[in-house]
Amino acid sequence: MFTLSRLRNIAPDCAVPVSYFMDALPSGGGSRRAGTRWLACTPAGVEAENSVTEERSAHMNSYTAPLAPDVEITMRAADTEKDWPRIWPLWRAVVSRGETHPYPVDATEAEARTIWLAPSRSAVYIAEREGALVAAMMTKPMRSGNGDHIANFDLMVAPEWWGQGIGRALATYVIDATQRAGYLAMEAYSVVDTNEQALKLWNALGFRTLATVPDAFRHPVHGLVGVHLMHRQLVS
Ligand SMILES: CC(C)(COP(=O)(O)OP(=O)(O)OC[C@H]1O[C@@H](n2cnc3c(N)ncnc32)[C@H](O)[C@@H]1OP(=O)(O)O)[C@@H](O)C(=O)NCCC(=O)NCCS
Repeated sequence: MFTLSRLRNIAPDCAVPVSYFMDALPSGGGSRRAGTRWLACTPAGVEAENSVTEERSAHMNSYTAPLAPDVEITMRAADTEKDWPRIWPLWRAVVSRGETHPYPVDATEAEARTIWLAPSRSAVYIAEREGALVAAMMTKPMRSGNGDHIANFDLMVAPEWWGQGIGRALATYVIDATQRAGYLAMEAYSVVDTNEQALKLWNALGFRTLATVPDAFRHPVHGLVGVHLMHRQLVS
């Protein structure tokens, strides 16, 4: 079993632990047939791969991570049709605070669904604890056409679970999945300057601020604040 501290020590090029298996591409849900790439990866960065063609359920490709002594979460690609009704309350709880996202604070469920699920190749990953959804992360191409090889992303942890390692665990899982999906880099265009947790998290996971846009976000407490354009290579 991997503790959070061991998860943190995994080499950057090998961000999944022993006995963790997943498909090369995230699934929108249900089962699919594909040339599945299985990967077994040790903390030392050793990996052994086999190519198999097999029909597998997306739900089989999950990873359970024990964090603090009483916190164990399971992470997997979401079945967006089935899981969205559980993602939406978390999405609303985070966005309605108005502190971290340039989305309408009073976005309706339909608007939220459009923002996260409508983009072409959008993929959603979730973390669950004892069956309850505690975090979700979405990826989609940052640009279209010849710019669709960089993934944009969005991570939300349920407020009652902030600061317990769940964001780091799901982000680590999704960075790996995004690399396996064929993206060359990840990019966020709007990490709010006052969002200390997010800046710490992304910096710790290898993201760098390329630029800050001054006064780009109206924070309900701090007023006009900047946003960071952050970037991380997935392939060197
Ligand atoms: C930002 C967010 C995803 C982080 O997830 P989390 O589960 O709370 O964070 P973790 O416990 O995994 O900790 C991540 C880092 O933030 C730091 N951190 C956690 N709580 C913190 C706090 N209250 N103040 C400052 N730093 C904090 C931790 O030290 C950790 O850094 P480390 O791993 O180098 O020690 C989560 O707080 C969240 O959903 N916030 C609202 C939505 C949001 O801001 N999304 C990101 C948009 S870019």
